[in-house]
Amino acid sequence: MVKLIKDRTFLSGVISIIIISMGIFYFIPKITEKNTIDTITKNSINSVEQMKLMRAYYVDNVTKDIKEYAPNISFNHTHEGADSKIPYPTTTIHDLSKLFSDNTGIKFRLYSDFPFKNRENRKLDEKEQEAIAFTKKNPEGIYVRRDLLNEKEVLRVAVTDYMTSQSCVDCHNSHPEKTWKEGKWKLGDKRGVIEVITPIEDELNGHKKLLNTILIIICLTLSIVVLINFFLRKHEEG
Ligand code: HEC
Repeated sequence: MVKLIKDRTFLSGVISIIIISMGIFYFIPKITEKNTIDTITKNSINSVEQMKLMRAYYVDNVTKDIKEYAPNISFNHTHEGADSKIPYPTTTIHDLSKLFSDNTGIKFRLYSDFPFKNRENRKLDEKEQEAIAFTKKNPEGIYVRRDLLNEKEVLRVAVTDYMTSQSCVDCHNSHPEKTWKEGKWKLGDKRGVIEVITPIEDELNGHKKLLNTILIIICLTLSIVVLINFFLRKHEEG
């Protein structure tokens, strides 16, 4: 064994493997974790974009005609089971968010610091206030945070909800249930956020398992190399 350790080539080989393994263990978790967060952030932004497109479609193709040609139908946030009442454009986001949350475990939320009268008493918690304040300042209007929800790790991505069409502005400015002065909103304003909360614990644990498997494989390979070398030397000496 002493001879083996004295063998410089062999020793430098073992040391290199150990240093490379340590490097792998330092960098791989950081890289995989960053990739996971980046992918979930992209997916969250995509989901929000899809919701917004769906709402824009509803505003352009349904609400305008209903207002003009269907005087007996009215918009309401409590429309389910009620005759002649259909959801406001934004209520469709609330409703779909609930459906998605129930079916996928990914939570969607829509909120702002200017609720309509029906949600006047809603209190935003510190984290929600932080998301709104951040998106207002941030030029891209996107807020990303790792957080704990029910003691499980989640990624929260809040995306600004802009006043993208004149119909948003007109309805919000003139609505009887508004809690702000008439004419407050204009095109392009940051009106609130749509937030996506995705559980990430399983994904991160999956990476830890992969890393442990790599560690075991490296240790086994290293032990086998040492043993083979040891027996070969013995054989040569014998
Ligand atoms: C026909 C009227 C109408 C139109 C058009 C409309 N909204 Fe709304 N919006 C409402 C009502 C009413 C609510 C409150 C719904 C609720 O609380 O269930 C609301 C809620 C919101 C909220 C959440 C406010 C909060 O804090 O709860 C945001 C953000 C929002 N709308 C953005 C938009 C954007 C952006 C558009 C255009 C793409 C739009 N709305 C189009 C009537 C409208």
